[in-house]
Amino acid sequence: MPFETALTRGLDLRFPVVAGPLGRGSSAEFLGAMAHSGCFGFTAAAHMPEETLNDELAKMKRATNGRFGANLSLTRDRRNWLAIALDAGVRVFSLWQGDLEPYVRTIKDAGGLVFWTLGTPGEAARAKDLGVDFIVSQGSEAGGHYVGSAPTMSLLPSIVDVAKGVPVLAAGGIADGRGLVAAMALGACGVWMGTRFVASSESANHPGYKERVVAARATDLVETELFDPVGQECPHRVIRNSTYAGWEAAGRPATGQRPGESDRISRFPNGKPLYRYDAAAAWDAMEGDWEASPLYAGTTIDLIHDVKSVAEIVGDIETTAQAAFDKIAGLRTAR
Ligand SMILES: Cc1cc2nc3c(=O)[nH]c(=O)nc-3n(C[C@H](O)[C@H](O)[C@H](O)COP(=O)(O)O)c2cc1C
Repeated sequence: MPFETALTRGLDLRFPVVAGPLGRGSSAEFLGAMAHSGCFGFTAAAHMPEETLNDELAKMKRATNGRFGANLSLTRDRRNWLAIALDAGVRVFSLWQGDLEPYVRTIKDAGGLVFWTLGTPGEAARAKDLGVDFIVSQGSEAGGHYVGSAPTMSLLPSIVDVAKGVPVLAAGGIADGRGLVAAMALGACGVWMGTRFVASSESANHPGYKERVVAARATDLVETELFDPVGQECPHRVIRNSTYAGWEAAGRPATGQRPGESDRISRFPNGKPLYRYDAAAAWDAMEGDWEASPLYAGTTIDLIHDVKSVAEIVGDIETTAQAAFDKIAGLRTAR
């Protein structure tokens, strides 16, 4: 199903679907599958240690033919990460949280594109003046950390109204073509999806985590700030797991008094310990108690019934989008 929007033109895509960063799940293989489907994916660059970032980005560049982007969470100074990514030839960036202004300037000076994930109309009104190329309107039903002040259905049009022509992508609560068509009706140029792509064969999320996304229902989700360090709290939506249940049973104590805070549940690939309340989502090669780590997922999990390849997921979105267009066209009468 061919589409032409500001997003497909800006990134030279066949279809206006973007996979947001999925922690360590956005591997070279995953991003390659997105690019080969005529879509686009972002890696979570801030989740990679500075020492290995260049090599990881080089792998992604090979797998995608250079058609991928890097996301930087600005909860701390990421200037070195940005410099490494620019040196590696990355020219599409997604920023969120923190002060993005100096980063936007550096990226624009290098001829790059900037996506800004935001959650209020007030922020959207600043985007054009800052030089942002694409706004990502992230509704509060999103999986993982979310910044949305309202769910997509009301947030998205309020952001489109004040965006001064900066194209807007819809994130949060979208898993199929019905969601894509609804987002476009509300003024979006494309969609930015997370939870659906966690449960893809190519994502490097832990297989047990993928199965949880398939098996869990929206009633198994909780909104919390449990998996953030003090001073960097941002609400996130996760599937209830043993860490959350243990903390709840202990009476929801404050950080410093939570049960098992010094438990080392695994190790990062560089050998550093992974503690029970760390923010890292379970990745494919993770050893140890993967279930204890945050199982980020959004309210779309009631729409996700299987782990599928990226090509199948994108194909499904195309088919269901076409059916949604046909259905709406069939509702119109001559009278
Ligand atoms: C496992 C996981 C990890 C995520 N990590 C990031 C991240 O590092 N940076 C970011 O901007 N968004 C992150 N997100 C949010 C997504 O980019 C996206 O906004 C969200 O998943 C969209 O909502 P949906 O899950 O309903 O599709 C993450 C989401 C998930 C599910």
